[in-house]
Amino acid sequence: MKVVTDKGVEGKVIVCTGAAGVLCSSMTEDLLRHGAKVAVLDLRKDVADAFVKKLAKKGLKDCIAVEANVLDRASLEAARKVVLKKFRRIDVLINGAGGNHPKGTTAAEQMTKGVKLEDTFFGLAPEGFEFVNKLNLIGTILPCQVFCRDMLKKGGSVLNFCSMAAYQPLTKVAAYGAAKAGIMNFTRFLATHLAPMGVRVNALAPGFFITNQNRFLMLEKDGKTLTARGNKVIAKTPMRKFGSPSDLHGAARFLISDEASFITGVTLPVDGGFVSYSGV
Ligand SMILES: NC(=O)c1ccc[n+]([C@@H]2O[C@H](COP(=O)([O-])OP(=O)(O)OC[C@H]3O[C@@H](n4cnc5c(N)ncnc54)[C@H](O)[C@@H]3O)[C@@H](O)[C@H]2O)c1
Repeated sequence: MKVVTDKGVEGKVIVCTGAAGVLCSSMTEDLLRHGAKVAVLDLRKDVADAFVKKLAKKGLKDCIAVEANVLDRASLEAARKVVLKKFRRIDVLINGAGGNHPKGTTAAEQMTKGVKLEDTFFGLAPEGFEFVNKLNLIGTILPCQVFCRDMLKKGGSVLNFCSMAAYQPLTKVAAYGAAKAGIMNFTRFLATHLAPMGVRVNALAPGFFITNQNRFLMLEKDGKTLTARGNKVIAKTPMRKFGSPSDLHGAARFLISDEASFITGVTLPVDGGFVSYSGV
C-alpha cells in the first residue's frame, strides 16, 4: 500500500534570505520542485531577478525576487509587505545571507617567530570582525524579528546557517567562527523562546562546499589545484570530498517540514563526517 504523507514542504510559503547565493539558490530550486512557494530575498536584486527568470523558464513560477538587506530593518519590513501581498502568509524563514570576508581572515595560521605582525590576529582590522559578525549574526537576528511575527498564530519554522567553524575554531577565519558559534547559540535561544508558539528554530552546519566565500582559501588561482588548506580539509573529511549544494536539499526540507515537528534547537552537520573525525 502506498503511504500518503502531507508532511512535506508543499504549499509552504518560504522566505529565504541570500537566496541568490550559491547554496540557497540551489536550495530554492529544490523547494520549488517540491511544491513550496519561495520569496527570493537578496541584497543583489539584479541577480535575484535573473535567478527568478531562470526558474520561470524551467516552469518554476511560485517565486518572487525581493530586494532586502538583512542588516536594515526598514528594508526587511518593506520586503515582508511585498511577500505578504503576493503569498498572504509566511510559514518558513531560511536565513541564508551570510559568509566570510578576507578582512576578517588572518594570512598566517599561527603566530610564530618571524611572522609579520600584520599577517596575524594583531593585523586584523576591527572592521573585518565587525563586518563578518554583523552580516552573520545580526543578519540572522533581524530577519527573525521581522518574519517570525507572521508565524505566531499558526506556527512555523526557521532554518539558520551555521558552519564547521562553530564546533571548533578553524585557523585564519577568526571572525567567521565567532559569528557562527553565535548563530548556534542563538538558534537554541530562539528555539526555546518560541517553542510555546509552535515555531521551531533549527540550523544547518554545512561542511566544506566550494563557494565564493571560501574559494580563495581552498583553491589556487587556477581554480583547480587545492591549496595546502584545501588538502587539509579533504584529509579531515572522512568522505574525502567537498560537498555539492544539492547535498543540503534533503536536510533542509526535512528540518523545515512537519516531519521534524518535535525537533527544535538543533544544528545538523551536513559535512561528510568532518565534525566526527578527530583527524587521527
Ligand atoms: N560555502 C560553504 O562552504 C559554507 C559552509 C558553511 C556555511 N556556509 C553558510 O551558508 C550560507 C550561504 O553561503 P553561500 O556560500 O551560498 O554564500 P554566497 O556568498 O554564495 O551567498 C550569500 C548571498 O547573500 C547575499 N547577501 C550578502 N549580504 C547580504 C545582505 N546584507 N542582505 C541580504 N543578502 C545579502 C549575497 O548577495 C549572496 O547572494 C552563509 O551563511 C554561509 O556562511 C557556507
